[in-house]
Amino acid sequence: MDKVNALIKDMEMKMAQEKIDCPCNLDELKVGVDLGTSNIVIIVLDKDNNPVTGAIESANVVKDGIVVDFIGAINILKRLKQQVEAKLGIELYEAATAIPPGIMSGNIKVISNVVEGAGFKVTKVVDEPEAAASVLNIQEGAVVDIGGGTTGISVMNNGKVAYSVDEATGGTHLTLVVAGNMNLPFTEAEGFKKSKENEKLILPIVRPVIEKMAHITMSNIPKEIKELYLVGGTSCLTGIEQVFEKYTSLRTIKPENPLLVTPIGIAMYAG
Ligand SMILES: Nc1ncnc2c1ncn2[C@@H]1O[C@H](COP(=O)(O)OP(=O)(O)OP(=O)(O)O)[C@@H](O)[C@H]1O
Ligand SMILES: [Mg+2]
Repeated sequence: MDKVNALIKDMEMKMAQEKIDCPCNLDELKVGVDLGTSNIVIIVLDKDNNPVTGAIESANVVKDGIVVDFIGAINILKRLKQQVEAKLGIELYEAATAIPPGIMSGNIKVISNVVEGAGFKVTKVVDEPEAAASVLNIQEGAVVDIGGGTTGISVMNNGKVAYSVDEATGGTHLTLVVAGNMNLPFTEAEGFKKSKENEKLILPIVRPVIEKMAHITMSNIPKEIKELYLVGGTSCLTGIEQVFEKYTSLRTIKPENPLLVTPIGIAMYAG
């Protein structure tokens, strides 16, 4: 996991920089677009999958893999594209994007249309779990991507995704529980949940929902699975891996910043 953590740290650092001296020519850049329920992310890698730059914006334009605000999604993505292009001093033309498990073909087209609407030619549509697994570089085990709206569970076999499912429980449900418990409006509860200083307070409040996620995971993986890998923004929650480990009795591993794993993986499939 050290290599993965170093890769993500490097990407976070480059995303925070205002200007990037692009080390390679345009044809060699790999661009990935992740249209999530909570965040829209653009990631740029070089041809050897080293971080170049990226940009992220929180958004409410996609619900569980379905684009609910087509124009809004295009506008956010256009904005992110311009930000990244300004940092690099070049224009980007092509990108890979991704779909959650089990999505219907009509919705795949809509996701591609958003990415094309923002000015990219879509070169590849990859499965989100496959993207995450590429970054983690794992052969066996299950990848659990806990995003805003859903939890995607993918079983790996010989480095390939054997099968995946997407279940409608994610970070939004944790926020709703925090909102109810603390008597806060949703947006305040979202901020409260993510704040580092509240981390000790949050876990006991949301533990039943995390146990439910662990339960859903167990009911979707075969007995042979020995390890779980947690990715997605909700996996940022301090202690979530211990709750999973206790509930499932499976070794549970997560990178230091699980939020960027899937978006980085999508970019790896570009080019
Ligand atoms: N530090 C944090 N602590 C707890 N939760 C966090 C933290 N950072 C982000 N999250 C949660 O992660 C979720 C967003 O994660 P992510 O960006 O992976 O989702 P997404 O890809 O947009 O959604 P989906 O995959 O469900 O479509 C939100 O619910 C957000 O509240
Ligand atoms: Mg996601």
